[in-house]
Amino acid sequence: MNPGDVVIGILGGGQLAKMSAQAGRKLSFKIRVLDPTPECPASQVAEQVVGSFRDPETVKSFAKTCHILTFDLEHVDLTPLFELKRNIRIVPAPETLTLIQNKFEQRQAFYKAGLPVPKFSVVSNKEDLEKKLPIVQKSLVGGYDGRGTVILKSREDLEKALPLPSLVEEYVEIEKEIALIVVRNNKGEFRIYDPVEMVFHPEGNLLDYLFCPADLSERLTRDVKELALEAVKAIGGVGLFGVELFLDKRENLYINEIAPRPHNSGHHTIEACVTSQFEQHIRVITGLPLGSEKLLSPAVMLNLLGEPGFYGKPVYEGLDKVLAIPGVSVHIYGKKETFPLRKMGHVTVLGETLQEALKKATIIKEILKVKGEVKK
Ligand SMILES: Nc1ncnc2c1ncn2[C@@H]1O[C@H](COP(=O)(O)OP(=O)(O)OP(=O)(O)O)[C@@H](O)[C@H]1O
Ligand SMILES: [Mg+2]
Repeated sequence: MNPGDVVIGILGGGQLAKMSAQAGRKLSFKIRVLDPTPECPASQVAEQVVGSFRDPETVKSFAKTCHILTFDLEHVDLTPLFELKRNIRIVPAPETLTLIQNKFEQRQAFYKAGLPVPKFSVVSNKEDLEKKLPIVQKSLVGGYDGRGTVILKSREDLEKALPLPSLVEEYVEIEKEIALIVVRNNKGEFRIYDPVEMVFHPEGNLLDYLFCPADLSERLTRDVKELALEAVKAIGGVGLFGVELFLDKRENLYINEIAPRPHNSGHHTIEACVTSQFEQHIRVITGLPLGSEKLLSPAVMLNLLGEPGFYGKPVYEGLDKVLAIPGVSVHIYGKKETFPLRKMGHVTVLGETLQEALKKATIIKEILKVKGEVKK
């Protein structure tokens, strides 16, 4: 294969597409992205077609110009893909995406495979919702970055409830949130990255920072890796996946969910691993050999979130100071507008030890802010 002759199409042109495209360009693949927002992040490094990945005809005509199709997000219209897959390689397969798009179907697939998941059901009326408290309520489709998930502990919380029907789960007393990247190709070969520990933003319900390796015993690390691979197999997964798990206070593990694409919890792999999740993504979709997942250094990854109260064109405050710190890599996604808690970039911090990296990360968090030209 001459990568220069191969066109990879990505549905969605956000930061995940941008970083996948950067990895693809390294090997000289041609990258095209379909995204409705002009000058989307990936357009900086790939050719953008402005259009909707939710419109079947647009997806079809976009696919005609590509050899391989993959995803920046799972919330795309899948109907044209079942037709397209006869003529074009689509990774992950539309069947896998169908399972993932619906949180109930996804849970069900893990449950049927005998994997541990929080107790779950679909609830369609308010009385049942109330009876089950405390619960976690999730939109069946369309949720991301914590939008579409609410924790309802008492009757007072019911006013925050999402529209019904929805998925309802037992509330797990989480000790740690763990995530890891798993890649699996169509020959059944796989690589499992070291688990990371995620710390969530108290207001946004989305990832604030993570560190790798996670603080887990050898046995738990092994169990997490095994479970993650089983979960990917349970959805027939071929491609690259981000697997999220919970560890409760009694050391029980649960699978939370799978993202069928590069994942926020794998951003540190760009600097900290032999093969980044983005290069691995490019390798698996193009059928190239999988790379080593080896962790080369302890790492902390901070999300750069839009500061509350700021909108409009982003202003990056403290960039000079942060870049002067050794072992720090700043990634700015190039989104044209900021809003509170929007993912605007991330920072990876390497250290001789995890403690050292965490110390630097604490300082960076204080200095580096994404503000905006409009203050409200
Ligand atoms: N059953 C549960 N018990 C306790 N907390 C939960 C449960 N399910 C989810 N949460 C909390 O809510 C967060 C978001 O949930 P989930 O990952 O299912 O939603 P999401 O919107 O798809 O998130 P993202 O796109 O950020 O991964 C979890 O990371 C966890 O902190
Ligand atoms: Mg999640």
